[in-house]
Amino acid sequence: MTGLRDKGTTQMRQDPAMASAGTGRKTVFVKTYGCQMNVYDSERMTDILAREGYDGAEGPEEADFVLLNTCHIREKAAEKIYSEIGRLRRLKAERRSKGQDMIIGVAGCVAQAEGLEIIRRAPDVDLVIGPQTYHRLPDTIRRVKRGEKVVETEFAIDEKFDTMPAARPDAIRQRGFSAFLTVQEGCDKFCSFCVVPYTRGAEVSRTVSQIVAEARRLTQAGVREITLLGQNVNAWRSQGPDGHSWVLGTLLRHLAAEVEGLARLRYTTSHPRDMDDDLIAAHRDLEMLMPYLHLPVQSGSDRILKAMNRRHSREDYLRLIERIRAANPDIALSGDFIVGFPGETEEDFRDTMRLVEAVGYAQAFSFKYSPRPGTPAAELTKQVDEDVKSDRLTRLQALLRAQQNAFSKACVGRHIDLLLEKRGRKAGQIVGRSPWLQPVVIDAEPSQIGDIVPVRIMGAGSNSLFGRLEP
Ligand code: SAH
Ligand code: SF4
Ligand code: F3S
Repeated sequence: MTGLRDKGTTQMRQDPAMASAGTGRKTVFVKTYGCQMNVYDSERMTDILAREGYDGAEGPEEADFVLLNTCHIREKAAEKIYSEIGRLRRLKAERRSKGQDMIIGVAGCVAQAEGLEIIRRAPDVDLVIGPQTYHRLPDTIRRVKRGEKVVETEFAIDEKFDTMPAARPDAIRQRGFSAFLTVQEGCDKFCSFCVVPYTRGAEVSRTVSQIVAEARRLTQAGVREITLLGQNVNAWRSQGPDGHSWVLGTLLRHLAAEVEGLARLRYTTSHPRDMDDDLIAAHRDLEMLMPYLHLPVQSGSDRILKAMNRRHSREDYLRLIERIRAANPDIALSGDFIVGFPGETEEDFRDTMRLVEAVGYAQAFSFKYSPRPGTPAAELTKQVDEDVKSDRLTRLQALLRAQQNAFSKACVGRHIDLLLEKRGRKAGQIVGRSPWLQPVVIDAEPSQIGDIVPVRIMGAGSNSLFGRLEP
């Protein structure tokens, strides 16, 4: 996965060895929507709940507690939650008829944005908990068990950073060799279309010592690759142990030097405004930093960028890409695009197409503009017709898909180091990610999972590459 987006859902992998043994332990099923930050948060919540006596359930049917970690970014993402709650309501009724109970919890950005409204609309929900209060889960569950309906949406980020317990080594090992680590939360950019500044609050950075401690915990449990996360990860700033003010580039260098066992680093998602010289230089100097950058631009039209309050022009973005490529010509670029922002004309849209042609993306995510309650753009009068949005999205996606295919084809013949992550679909196959984040399938032994091996890329399919182990 790349970029902050609401592509599908993730369900927490369960370790059969951790299945409920029946002795007073309960089960939880966490379902995750939205971006990588939510995936990370779901892992943290699962870790806290394990301490509270909750083991992972295979599905919602047998769970004592179902927790939806939600996304509010587009209307569809938010509406999905209510249909899911509808399904859970029936399961809850079935369990009740058997004398069992089920707690239904809603976490994430819908929880933060809608709060009590969720319980008004769906009275079977017992708990609504926003992203900055996950450390209070144990207390909120106790209150729910006493019969309360709990809505916990305070902004308490410092308290959360200070008190969130670390993951246990067995839980880390079960999640594999590539891990997420949130270093920054929130957004101060206020793009006029976006809910994130309201659902996640202001930009706040975790301290160097918190981050290093967590990175060491991960690598001590076997993790080889860490992806630093933040809604605006390159806005990360903190005082370093040397007393100086550090930026993300400093942090990356420090982690590369100080965290034993770490082999590769990534970060996402970045804002063009926060892409400083130091971070660009890290892409030149730091071998451990993978040559991949997700740098959303949203539109190629200056008029629309201004209306979006992106605070950068088309030219700023193109210049920035030039500087990044000068530092590391091998870097693969990824982006996010919105089509049909209010007032977007055919000419504005063509500017976006031309920008895509000028940049050449290895991967990208594109969306139809979705008006979000409470955001300035939702109030604009010149909303674009749905069929015009669909037409533009189809055209843009065809271009982006062609670029992605061209990029994959250009990888054929290249030699890479591949981190083997998991078994493939067919027996004897193992899958990893290329430095440019494409899935790569090779024939290898399951015992090699976790190794970084030399691979020659032999072919390119529609969504993955095929490689061969090099002697
Ligand atoms: N912080 C990141 C992305 C956050 S949201 C950034 O600045 O790029 C992920 C993506 O969802 C955005 O990049 C944008 O392309 C898309 N998005 C956000 N709000 C949207 C809306 N109202 N309608 C459609 N797409 C939206
Ligand atoms: Fe949303 Fe803009 Fe912040 Fe990204 S930078 S999270 S698009 S407001
Ligand atoms: Fe969605 Fe919130 Fe992430 S709105 S994209 S889950 S920050």
